[in-house]
Amino acid sequence: IEAKLAVGPLKGKRILVTSGPTHEPIDPVRYIANRSSGAQGTAIAAALVHLGADVVFVTGPADIAPPAGVEVVKVQSAREMMAAVQRVLPVDAAVFAAAVADWHVENARASKMKKTKDGMPDLKFAENPDILATVCASVKRPRLVVGFAAETDDVVANATAKRLRKGCDWILANDVSPETGIMGGSENAVSFVTEEGAQAWPRMSKTEVAKKLAGLIAQTLNS
Ligand code: CTP
Ligand code: CA
Repeated sequence: IEAKLAVGPLKGKRILVTSGPTHEPIDPVRYIANRSSGAQGTAIAAALVHLGADVVFVTGPADIAPPAGVEVVKVQSAREMMAAVQRVLPVDAAVFAAAVADWHVENARASKMKKTKDGMPDLKFAENPDILATVCASVKRPRLVVGFAAETDDVVANATAKRLRKGCDWILANDVSPETGIMGGSENAVSFVTEEGAQAWPRMSKTEVAKKLAGLIAQTLNS
């Protein structure tokens, strides 16, 4: 159990962390999900708590337990995560580590679909709200906003464009191609993308990535 420092560099700072996948319902018993384990978001929340921050942890359905010492808000869908995040603002900083589903099923059913009666499902998709972009454009924009960019191709170029499009301060970009083992693994290889450009961090444990990021957040909020 990570103990909270009595006096840490983030003492008195309220920080939001989103984490985990989202589940988008198809009917009462089925959903669409993704491979996020929530490991990186959980490690970041723990590292921030360790530096003394008051962390609000908004998480989709993940198998790993939320870190000790955070305020946990559990959600299922992207739209629920959006609403939960809006209730948490204002904060001093926000880290968007969740793997938010890009689409939900617009014609989700109130009753279980039956193969005999309904045949092949005819799912219609609609886009989910972009939580990170919405928060960045809001009057309650936190002083420091950090996003992630999960990519399989052109990692730095895509992340650089994403940072500008969404209006966040920093992006941790990672290559989530299956052969990297990052999705669901204990390590991460990120490029740290800021206004100044991209910096490739060496491959390290998700815990080490979290500590490094928490240190940078503390530095920035105290400057
Ligand atoms: N994000 C979010 N809300 C969404 C989609 C993404 O808050 N509806 C956040 C993620 O938590 C992450 C960042 O935006 O911090 C980038 O997510 P990513 O999926 O890489 O970007 P998208 O804009 O969805 O682009 P694409 O998936 O098409 O690459
Ligand atoms: Ca996406």
